[in-house]
Amino acid sequence: MSFTQRHLLGIEPLRPDAITEILDVAENYVALNRQLTKHSNALAGLTQINMFFENSTRTQASFELAGKRLGADVMNMAMQASSIKKGETLIDTALTLNAMHPDLLVVRHPHSGAVDLLAQKVNCAVLNAGDGKHEHPTQALLDALTIRRAKGRLHRLNIAICGDIAHSRVARSNLILLGKMENRVRLVGPPTLMPSQISELGVEVYHDMRQGLQDVDVVMMLRLQRERMDGGFIPSEREYYHRYGLDAEKLSYAKPDAIVMHPGPMNRGVEIDGDIADDINRSVIQEQVEMGVAVRMAAMDLLARNMRNAQSGAQLGGQA
Ligand code: NCD
Repeated sequence: MSFTQRHLLGIEPLRPDAITEILDVAENYVALNRQLTKHSNALAGLTQINMFFENSTRTQASFELAGKRLGADVMNMAMQASSIKKGETLIDTALTLNAMHPDLLVVRHPHSGAVDLLAQKVNCAVLNAGDGKHEHPTQALLDALTIRRAKGRLHRLNIAICGDIAHSRVARSNLILLGKMENRVRLVGPPTLMPSQISELGVEVYHDMRQGLQDVDVVMMLRLQRERMDGGFIPSEREYYHRYGLDAEKLSYAKPDAIVMHPGPMNRGVEIDGDIADDINRSVIQEQVEMGVAVRMAAMDLLARNMRNAQSGAQLGGQA
């Protein structure tokens, strides 16, 4: 076992062999998910609660499907309708749920660090489904699995992450993961959408798309995260598309077999041309969604194994 974590809060604490282990386990679930009967009992008897304090389509749906396919009892908390609206704090809500003995808590929250804080207060395994601008570990893992399957490897690739880097937890988790696996990552986008501590990241930065995409193997596009912007970060969407939107002409600077990725939700005609997004010869956007279910199954399976190991260890210790 390389993945020995109690929680999955970010990519930062993971060693490369732990990342590889999650991806290898996920491969088995890709195969299972393509069968007519998709059940395993890896999480049988366990209770999974999904708490999404921010909107989500893909992530929430795939965590729910992942839990159900592995035999967990899955509950989705409707956070809009919950006591949070009555002023209950995140921690109070977590402690209330904790008293119901969940085993896996999947949390998305608009504040960076909120999920780490919550993990310190509860007894179960916590999975970060995106916290503010901080991390989105399962997204980076599903992106890694998609790249590994498309390119046959996950090292020594040239990867461009493009667009709104500053507000993107997807970019952050991907940067960390792809760096740990020894790839060359470049960031491409306007100076206003680059994170402030950019020089500490040890990556190449381009403000020109054509230069930034030159000879890359992977083009990862990001959504303009307007909900995290509080001012004029871009001149206009039209101007942005003209300079940074991925179209066939800009993509022609990448390697001829370069793949195009996007975590979704996608704004066609803002950061990406709809025809490129739908081009099955270039775009792996649908594969990313498919890998999302498998990677979340793998992450929860491995956390459950660690939970069971810890419990049997404690019982043995008790007998000694
Ligand atoms: C991303 C997120 O929520 O961080 N979406 C996702 O999980 N697939 C990216 C985004 O919102 O743009």
